[in-house]
Amino acid sequence: MTTRKLTLALILAATVFAGCDGQGHGSAGNDVSPAALYQQHCAACHGEAGQGTATGSGLSNLSTRFGTVTLTDIVLRGTGTMPGTPSLSDEEAAAIVSYLQSTFGPAE
Ligand code: HEC
Repeated sequence: MTTRKLTLALILAATVFAGCDGQGHGSAGNDVSPAALYQQHCAACHGEAGQGTATGSGLSNLSTRFGTVTLTDIVLRGTGTMPGTPSLSDEEAAAIVSYLQSTFGPAE
């Protein structure tokens, strides 16, 4: 039946979202926390506060050096020796980019 297929599709979609968001704190598709996404996908190399680690550079003055399109490209496809994170949805990538711009953006 169509209804059953739809139900199955919804369950699968819910499972995929729960898996992507990790640790089952249950944030739904468009309810992404940019800070949590950064911690999940970027902090291991760039540090929890963007201070950098032995693996990744510190993040600062990003807005003066990269446009939104370039930052999105770096997040999704990586740059130089940095691997990209192509599994991010458009919303997640955009959320991370605006988080970068507001947190590590301005030169001050
Ligand atoms: C596996 C480690 C690793 C991960 C994970 C990682 N990066 Fe990077 N990132 C690097 C390295 C290494 C560089 C320097 C690349 C180069 O120039 O060769 C870099 C460079 C950058 C730059 C350019 C910095 C500059 O000042 O030139 C930005 C912006 C950036 N990363 C953002 C992110 C964001 C946002 C995420 C999460 C979506 C992320 N990175 C995840 C290792 C990582």
